[in-house]
Amino acid sequence: MTRILLTGANGQLGYEVIQQARALALDIVALDRSTLDITDRKAAAEIVQNSAPDLIINAAAYTAVDRAETDRQAAFAVNRDGARNLAEVAERRGAVLIHFSTDYVFDGAKPQPYVEEDTVGPLGVYGESKEAGEAAVRTVSERHLILRTSWVYGVHGANFVRTMLRLAREKDEIRVVTDQTGCPTYAADLAEIALQLSVQVLKGDFPKDGYGTFHCAGQGQVSWHGFASKIFELVGERLCKQPELIGIPASEFPTLANRPANSALDCSKLSRVHGLSARDWPVALSDMLDRLYLNA
Ligand SMILES: NC(=O)c1ccc[n+]([C@@H]2O[C@H](COP(=O)([O-])OP(=O)(O)OC[C@H]3O[C@@H](n4cnc5c(N)ncnc54)[C@H](OP(=O)(O)O)[C@@H]3O)[C@@H](O)[C@H]2O)c1
Repeated sequence: MTRILLTGANGQLGYEVIQQARALALDIVALDRSTLDITDRKAAAEIVQNSAPDLIINAAAYTAVDRAETDRQAAFAVNRDGARNLAEVAERRGAVLIHFSTDYVFDGAKPQPYVEEDTVGPLGVYGESKEAGEAAVRTVSERHLILRTSWVYGVHGANFVRTMLRLAREKDEIRVVTDQTGCPTYAADLAEIALQLSVQVLKGDFPKDGYGTFHCAGQGQVSWHGFASKIFELVGERLCKQPELIGIPASEFPTLANRPANSALDCSKLSRVHGLSARDWPVALSDMLDRLYLNA
């Protein structure tokens, strides 16, 4: 009685969850969008009935922050309704749901890192839809974990690190925002924490008060510009040429969606309650880059 069902298996996080679950010999049913579209309530119910999981990890999400501004319905369909569908089927089966949310539920005006109890106030449609998904999960599922994370990158999928490396090959100069701060989070660290929590749940020794909402991101905080500088410092000579990094304010890099100026997450609750934390972000980044270049 220890099966995990994973949705969004082809995303950055989903990819890492599968790799690590298989390495740990966990029984995992991994579904990408083609095998389960989480907006399809009936399909979700059928799959859960047939595969009989004890825990569901929802790594599926609509993550295109700018596109969401003009595609509100689709963002809400996945991030709110899809999350609710999974919460419903999990609850009906008596399974635990691990769901992921985002730093973009906050407005970014707080000077310090955000704690779980801080008031939400999303600046854009993506954040609104994720916040609505959190609310749906809380309403429907009694035993859930909502892990709010931020600035996710990994070896698989599109992300800031891989974009920077591509731009370095294409350009001599790269302009990067200096006045937005967050916590870069390696998808592999996030997957590891989700699976450690899963194993505790499946073993049956999960504390009753261990459910709820937790911040879960790389330790430390940095601006996008600082993040980019560290990428190029760590990549060093593996790159044929180093680009010149030019710091700019967000106002000089207009995007469809407004982004919080500060979206750093205080993850001490996860550490206090579960003894778990992601690594310092530069350490995790260094690992990711080694892995990327080893496989290149
Ligand atoms: N990326 C970030 O910087 C970031 C920051 C904060 C929080 N988060 C949260 O962290 C979690 C994981 O994000 P990620 O970076 O791994 O995202 P990702 O790489 O964009 O992966 C999301 C996956 O969900 C799939 N998907 C989209 N709509 C679906 C649907 N209707 N049914 C089933 N699958 C669907 C996508 O499928 P396709 O491959 O077919 O598109 C994709 O594989 C999400 O909850 C996200 O909101 C991410």
